[in-house]
Amino acid sequence: MSAQHSDFLQPSVFDKEYYSSDAYNDYLQAFRTQARMVVIDPLLQAIQPTEPLTFLDVGCGMGGNILELHDAGYEACGIEISPYCLEYSPAKEWMKPGGVLNIPYDDNAFDVLICRDVFPYLSAEEVPMGVRELVRVAKRYVAFSTIDHDSPNVSQEFNPDPYRNASVTAFTPDDYIALFAACGADLFRRDFFVQPRDSSYLFTVSSKK
Ligand SMILES: C[S@@+](CC[C@H](N)C(=O)[O-])C[C@H]1O[C@@H](n2cnc3c(N)ncnc32)[C@H](O)[C@@H]1O
Repeated sequence: MSAQHSDFLQPSVFDKEYYSSDAYNDYLQAFRTQARMVVIDPLLQAIQPTEPLTFLDVGCGMGGNILELHDAGYEACGIEISPYCLEYSPAKEWMKPGGVLNIPYDDNAFDVLICRDVFPYLSAEEVPMGVRELVRVAKRYVAFSTIDHDSPNVSQEFNPDPYRNASVTAFTPDDYIALFAACGADLFRRDFFVQPRDSSYLFTVSSKK
């Protein structure tokens, strides 16, 4: 496994234009508030940490989750393939280049992995590889969300995105749950991110396979 991003998408497509148009037209204004409301508040409520935890956000975009986690007192960093985010994110000092198909960290390197809305940019063949990478690097939890077969956001009319791979329609929520289970991560909570149009999952890592 050597590629970091999907063969059919170059990282340069995730540029200022991508983060300011179509489905993501307000992303550069809203990413931090969204991170808190959609991801971090519900995640911390679900985990109820009683000790310091470390977090890695895979495909962290502009780094809203990282900034919010730092504010809440946690150690957090991220990886991205987008040269734009790596250069302009206010969290860039905690970010490094890297993709979900080859995460540049050791096994069990972080307590919690977050990966939100990255899998729609993989091919169907790459999806199981990405799931295996997330579970490999996570010690305790994987917080995951994606657009899948059942998400209203899969519609280009409703949620335009020129780079979303049509192969996302091949995967149902049950398919994702089975893929994580096959790597040793069990479903703990469903649909806990505040994003009603996509599926989200909190997995606990048990015995890795
Ligand atoms: C819709 S944005 C979501 C950004 C961030 N996760 C968030 O929730 O704000 C999708 C992100 O996935 C990143 N991405 C695409 N393919 C990736 C890959 N193979 N590995 C890691 N990140 C990837 C893009 O650069 C982009 O920042």
